[in-house]
Amino acid sequence: MSSVQIRAVNKAFGAHRVLRDVDFDVREGDLSVLLGPSGCGKTTLLRIVAGHLAPDSGTLQVGGRTLAGPGVFVSPERRGIGIVPQDGALFPHLDVAGNIAFGLPGRLRRKARTSARVRELLDLVGLPGAEDLPPSQLSGGQQQRVALARALAPEPQLVLLDEPFSALDAALRGAVRADVRHALLAAGATALMVTHDQEEALSMADSVAVMQGGRIVMHDAPANVYSTPTSLEVARFVGDVVELPVSANGETALGPLPEDSNVPPGGGIAVLRPEQLVLTPALAAPMGSAHAVVATVAEVEYFGHDTLVALDLPGASGGRVLARCARPPEPGSRVRIDIEGPVSCYATDSSGV
Ligand SMILES: Nc1ncnc2c1ncn2[C@@H]1O[C@H](COP(=O)(O)OP(=O)(O)OP(=O)(O)O)[C@@H](O)[C@H]1O
Ligand SMILES: [Mg+2]
Repeated sequence: MSSVQIRAVNKAFGAHRVLRDVDFDVREGDLSVLLGPSGCGKTTLLRIVAGHLAPDSGTLQVGGRTLAGPGVFVSPERRGIGIVPQDGALFPHLDVAGNIAFGLPGRLRRKARTSARVRELLDLVGLPGAEDLPPSQLSGGQQQRVALARALAPEPQLVLLDEPFSALDAALRGAVRADVRHALLAAGATALMVTHDQEEALSMADSVAVMQGGRIVMHDAPANVYSTPTSLEVARFVGDVVELPVSANGETALGPLPEDSNVPPGGGIAVLRPEQLVLTPALAAPMGSAHAVVATVAEVEYFGHDTLVALDLPGASGGRVLARCARPPEPGSRVRIDIEGPVSCYATDSSGV
């Protein structure tokens, strides 16, 4: 059951092809996140869904209704789609209640029931009692939550969010993300959000669509996008990577890969996440292990919740590998490295390296 169906959508600006045969579905009630580097076409796709742009070819359906396609173009105000812009864009001359009621159809805006609906929406976004405040008295995060309430007011069949947290500072962003996720879930809304922040995508989404160069290159659950990326480019984009040449029989500079790794018949590149490198002080490591690989700790970056450790390892790309672990080892100390599988591998010829 897909709420949004995008099929073979293309869009060019002059000679610049921005979207290339985009196929993309959002399931009803899901929050799907479109993740990709700057300039890859995320906002362009969102504008096509909103109706602010027409595709050159392809079709768009929302809730089973064709909104754009050959001979069809439904205007933005008739699409039943709510939009949360990047910077909230609240009306400064209206109070919070006025801003939210602005999202309601004109005939409802003046009715008594408006105040009940505004109260309900403010509860939903975690701002009860904020009706009379002017936007200037709200923090950035509160303004974004009012913008979400305004977008949800007319009970749209779809909510679009374009980098809704990019104007917020890092400390606030995490909390507002959780609030917005919670409010969308409570409203039962189907949502499509755009971001170039991997952490934001992985932590908020039911499904993540990775976009590169105007194409959707992978669309899957966040855990699959992170742990089994479909290409080396996707792997590099969605998190830190440790890249190791791997032979056809699964040998790397860190020893053999675990059995369940997908080593290509001709060998290639093995891509690990730093937390797949398990470190033990070399002295405490059991003796006699045929495959034990020992390396020297070059640098330690301590983050509190975990530690990134750079290890000198001849044979790895750049002579270094990155590990993530709970307890910081001493710089200069020797550690044993074991691999926790499975490990995703890519044939060198198809990876573009
Ligand atoms: N109206 C337009 N006219 C011409 N070129 C455009 C127009 N809109 C977007 N582009 C170009 O299309 C490409 C994709 O733009 P888009 O805004 O979709 O990227 P994005 O993925 O949202 O990037 P960001 O993460 O920086 O917001 C860019 O190269 C941009 O310059
Ligand atoms: Mg954009």
